[in-house]
Amino acid sequence: MNSQDLQELGINIFDIRDFVDLNFIKEYKESVINARKWLDKKSKHCNNGDRRSDIKFVKYFEKLIGKDYSHLKKENDYQLDYNFVSDCFNYIGENNIKKLPDGGVPKNSSPLSTLSIMSDVLYTIGTESKWTKLYYDMTRIINDKIIDLNFPGVRQGPAHFNVMMKYSYLAVHSDVMGDGSSDFVNGIHIRPLTIMNYPNVNRTLKDGSLYRYFIPTDYNGKNAKSLDWDFFHKKKEILQYKVVYEGDWTNEFIKNGYNYYDILPDYKTVLVMDNEINDGVFGNIPHMVTKNNSENTRYGVYVQTNHEGFYESV
Ligand SMILES: [Fe+2]
Repeated sequence: MNSQDLQELGINIFDIRDFVDLNFIKEYKESVINARKWLDKKSKHCNNGDRRSDIKFVKYFEKLIGKDYSHLKKENDYQLDYNFVSDCFNYIGENNIKKLPDGGVPKNSSPLSTLSIMSDVLYTIGTESKWTKLYYDMTRIINDKIIDLNFPGVRQGPAHFNVMMKYSYLAVHSDVMGDGSSDFVNGIHIRPLTIMNYPNVNRTLKDGSLYRYFIPTDYNGKNAKSLDWDFFHKKKEILQYKVVYEGDWTNEFIKNGYNYYDILPDYKTVLVMDNEINDGVFGNIPHMVTKNNSENTRYGVYVQTNHEGFYESV
């Protein structure tokens, strides 16, 4: 599939070497390495902010891995932390568990998917370290160059790091919530682009933690809007969330006429998701992050955006 066809789906993949010179890239790589050292220490103390989990979810994993996490209790809920999430992923990864047991969680709930989301929000803003600040500043320069040339009129907004440790992954999902109408205020899209930057070096495809998206083989570059993107929702029951890791899901998609594409989360790569093109078709595309096979945590930076003048108009 060529890059023009991908762009029609809202998937834009850039190489920073097309935007900044070699000296800048050398310095940028240095900032990634230093920022990572700080993040590796700091992330151990991350919790998932305001997001709370209910008791059933925590009890499910307590039973599975045989450990007590009652110290995480806050009022009626639990506030998860790095240790809880990494204990769970380690248990699943080290015991090579392919499918989580039933029972103990409400029907149709998805403990693993919830765990992935909990991991996704184990984050830090990262502005308190000079290294992450430098990384942010340099990243913003790169992103601005990409935006100016490709998406004029868009501005970068707040950003945060997310933490994907060894054995972690993010379950298949699509981003759209509801009918998409809540994405607009006064007719203006609230987040025209979502930009992903990756402060990781020397990762290979084998290391995993790849951003993987699934596209119907019927897609020809012109029929983005008319394809049956609903497959994922219709077949959710066969893609039970209790199935661990990417293998079964990926095979199921292939069997049902999909191809998949992987993006390596490397510092030279910038993924820009266009939430507006073709009526926001990107929001329908099933995607996931594959298992992190590496000892190294895979970090990602989410940058929000808005249209110039958006805040003045609301
Ligand atoms: Fe997503």
